[in-house]
Amino acid sequence: MIPAVSDKGLRDAHKQVRRDVTKPLVFAADTLVRFKSGRILIHTTSGKLRAFESDSPALIGWLCRFCKPTTLESALAALQPADRAAVLPVVEHLQRGGVLVDGDAPPAGGDEPEILGRAKQHLRLLARSLYELACDVWGFGLHAERQLQLRTGVGVERRLMALLAAIDALRSELTALRRPFIAGQLAALKVAADARDLKLHIGCGQGLLDGWINIDVSPAPLSLNVQWGLPFADASVSRVFVSHLLEHLFFPADVKPFLAEIRRVLAPGGVVRIVVPDIERCIEAYVGNDRSFFANRRETWPWWPPNPTRLEDFLAYAGAGAEPAYLFEAHKYGYDFETLAKVLSDAGFVGTLRSEYMSSDFPDLKVDHVSAVANARYGERYYSLFVEARRAA
Ligand SMILES: C[S@@+](CC[C@H](N)C(=O)[O-])C[C@H]1O[C@@H](n2cnc3c(N)ncnc32)[C@H](O)[C@@H]1O
Repeated sequence: MIPAVSDKGLRDAHKQVRRDVTKPLVFAADTLVRFKSGRILIHTTSGKLRAFESDSPALIGWLCRFCKPTTLESALAALQPADRAAVLPVVEHLQRGGVLVDGDAPPAGGDEPEILGRAKQHLRLLARSLYELACDVWGFGLHAERQLQLRTGVGVERRLMALLAAIDALRSELTALRRPFIAGQLAALKVAADARDLKLHIGCGQGLLDGWINIDVSPAPLSLNVQWGLPFADASVSRVFVSHLLEHLFFPADVKPFLAEIRRVLAPGGVVRIVVPDIERCIEAYVGNDRSFFANRRETWPWWPPNPTRLEDFLAYAGAGAEPAYLFEAHKYGYDFETLAKVLSDAGFVGTLRSEYMSSDFPDLKVDHVSAVANARYGERYYSLFVEARRAA
């Protein structure tokens, strides 16, 4: 028997929700079910209504039917007639709070930049919050674990595992989307699975190269995260051009597998051309107190914070002090020739050479002009470091 729910929040629920009992309803993917002091709380991560609370196992057991799309009609049929009236306001409350949603609804529409903007904002908050959470947990040490255990029965460790599980679940769903997402784009670009002699422009930004596969995060001709790997066969590529991307990856944890992946797709004798900020040049300017070096650099990178000291300017460029909320966009490392040559050699490349702007032994690699920043220079010297390496023949 399901008891009548005496929640005043439920009383006026009826007006706003539809009562089409033949359409399937399902729990929204971000539904949370929590247990607190003998009561069960159900809500979503974003719902504006307060959580629905109940201490009736019979009611909660019945609601579990909606963990997969189920019509209200068939769910009600499983109840005694007297119970049907008790559950209807609950269903309506959960619909109003976004907990129960249409099981056959098409994907939400809306303005694309707005949807993406909100996603980025949430990711920034999440990144910042995780950092602050880590500082809090370290600040308390074991005290937090013990106190939360006493107060709630669940300590910090298990709460963190629950957060990890939530992130893991989302990432698993995204991972399942990768293959068809990439396959559709390659088909649109007419790149066959057995294609050879390809040229990849990775981290292309706004600058596209004709005859190359231009790759970046969405929206790009081929949208992907380079940490997924490159969707091309071994030895199917003759040239790779990567300008001002490497400094955005963590060194060496993410840079090494990325370079190893480039080597995998390159055919023997194939060449990668890499452009990165020249950090040695920055250090020279800092030590030489060359203020105009930094002032002049702002003409190309005007969005860096205003009026920095030489040290602030240099460290931000070299990847120090990245704000967690802007971790994706921020520089995470800086390179001199020696370090870049070393990591290339570790990834199996040979013949690493320092190059110059628009200068290469390979005519099809004279492509630096497509970069928005590689041409920036101070006097005769470029702010960028240009390097080429190849896969052994
Ligand atoms: C500073 S911009 C350089 C753009 C262009 N190559 C140039 O030289 O003007 C860095 C580019 O790397 C891309 N990028 C950063 N991390 C990436 C990732 N994990 N996967 C794919 N692209 C990424 C960014 O989206 C951005 O377009």
